[in-house]
Amino acid sequence: MTGSSMRLERASGADVPAVEALLSAADLPLDGAADAVASLGVVARDAAGAVVGAAALERFGSAGLLRSVVVAPAARGLGVGRAVVEEAERLAAAEGMDDLYLITETAEAWFPRLGWTPVPRSVAQAAVGESIEFTTVCRDKGVPMRRLRP
Ligand SMILES: CC(C)(COP(=O)(O)OP(=O)(O)OC[C@H]1O[C@@H](n2cnc3c(N)ncnc32)[C@H](O)[C@@H]1OP(=O)(O)O)[C@@H](O)C(=O)NCCC(=O)NCCS
Repeated sequence: MTGSSMRLERASGADVPAVEALLSAADLPLDGAADAVASLGVVARDAAGAVVGAAALERFGSAGLLRSVVVAPAARGLGVGRAVVEEAERLAAAEGMDDLYLITETAEAWFPRLGWTPVPRSVAQAAVGESIEFTTVCRDKGVPMRRLRP
């Protein structure tokens, strides 16, 4: 797949099964993923229309949690991950979320390349601490990060 054959779109409920399959295969949390993908998700599709990447947001007032960032194994290393994260950031801005956070156990070395930086857990907790990720799956683990404005 080349960059030109990939297209980015707002996700719909119909994309949830495909995204959940990618998340499961990558061992990422499914709790709350369906709602986030269907309401504030983006997907990358290949030329045949198959979902090869995804990212989603959860809103907490003017803050947002970026979650469910995943790329199909066969499509990794081609810029799909960067593309879905940047598309989700544009969606967040369009939706009035000006302070973005995430928590990751697997990609803390990758997100800084996209402008994210680690923050103390207390900082993220104050903004998006009510999220399922902070209250359950990543309650005691994972690296909280924040998107710094360029
Ligand atoms: C992390 C992930 C989304 C990156 O997607 P991608 O499409 O491969 O990313 P890009 O093509 O935009 O970037 C690829 C570059 O990032 C690096 N990279 C990819 N994943 C990385 C990781 N977890 N940690 C550090 N570097 C990583 C690659 O080595 C590559 O480096 P290069 O450009 O120097 O060759 C993808 O690997 C994935 O789905 N991983 C499993 C799920 C996951 O960990 N999601 C994040 C949860 S918060």
